[in-house]
Amino acid sequence: MQMVSTLADLRAARLALPGTAGLIPTMGYLHEGHISLARRARAECDSVIASIFVNPAQFAPNEDLAKYPRNLERDLQLLESAGVDLVWTPTPEGMYPPGFSTWVEVEGLTRPLEGAARPGHFRGVTTVVTKLFSAVQPERAYFGQKDAQQAAVIRKMVRDLDFPIEIIVGPTVREADGLAMSSRNAYLNAEERKAATVLFNALSAAQQAYQHGERDGDVLRGILRHVIDLQPLARMQYVSAADYDTLEELQTLTGKTLLSMAVFIGQTRLIDNFVLG
Ligand code: PAJ
Repeated sequence: MQMVSTLADLRAARLALPGTAGLIPTMGYLHEGHISLARRARAECDSVIASIFVNPAQFAPNEDLAKYPRNLERDLQLLESAGVDLVWTPTPEGMYPPGFSTWVEVEGLTRPLEGAARPGHFRGVTTVVTKLFSAVQPERAYFGQKDAQQAAVIRKMVRDLDFPIEIIVGPTVREADGLAMSSRNAYLNAEERKAATVLFNALSAAQQAYQHGERDGDVLRGILRHVIDLQPLARMQYVSAADYDTLEELQTLTGKTLLSMAVFIGQTRLIDNFVLG
């Protein structure tokens, strides 16, 4: 496995890779969610490239950029054992040199949910992903359903800007008790870690109601809110039952629906979602 940091080295190494290339963009502190995407890319592409970059542009000033967990050595071991060929670790100065002033922004889909809770977040995501795509020029890029809105926004960007890249979205990988794997789970103490299953439990309760025929958006959002309210360490930021394609809140569920939420467990902000229908 080769490792590069500068754009020039990345370009040279990329040119030397044979056949179709698959890219897995990450912010590091890797877990089975990331690695499942790397393994899928290994199975589907001739060459596999992963990037590790904690992207300052997608963090607001009050967020966790400075304390975002990092462990490059462990990340490299995991990527190597998943069969990754090339790892790119850009630097903030390389990605955003002084005077950087060009941004990629997807309108509409970025307004609700994570976009409303984290102003500017998706502008940072779409700008860095554009830069990763343009440098690596992969045939395929792999994202996780865990960040459902992010995956939808990237798909829209690729369509609107005609990137010749197939976007592949892998299922959410969970711990045994249902907690979605996330680098941010490292922030949780033992008591918070137990309480964090409330996201999965709330989604499961709403899914069960759906399976018993409930189609009222307010009732389903109410179930999510109710389960979260019962957990003293949890503070709900938003709950949603939205149209899967437009992300607009639904009064009545008809087609494919995204149930999603953002919840603070202590100081740690976690997100999760289920797809219904
Ligand atoms: P990061 O949070 O490191 O996630 C990298 C990729 O792994 C994303 O596509 C994310 O959806 C996926 N992922 C995370 N947890 C997962 C889980 N439990 N199961 C399946 N997939 C999971 O998302 C980002 O980084 C950044 O926003 C990035 C796209 C790299 C741009 O900076």
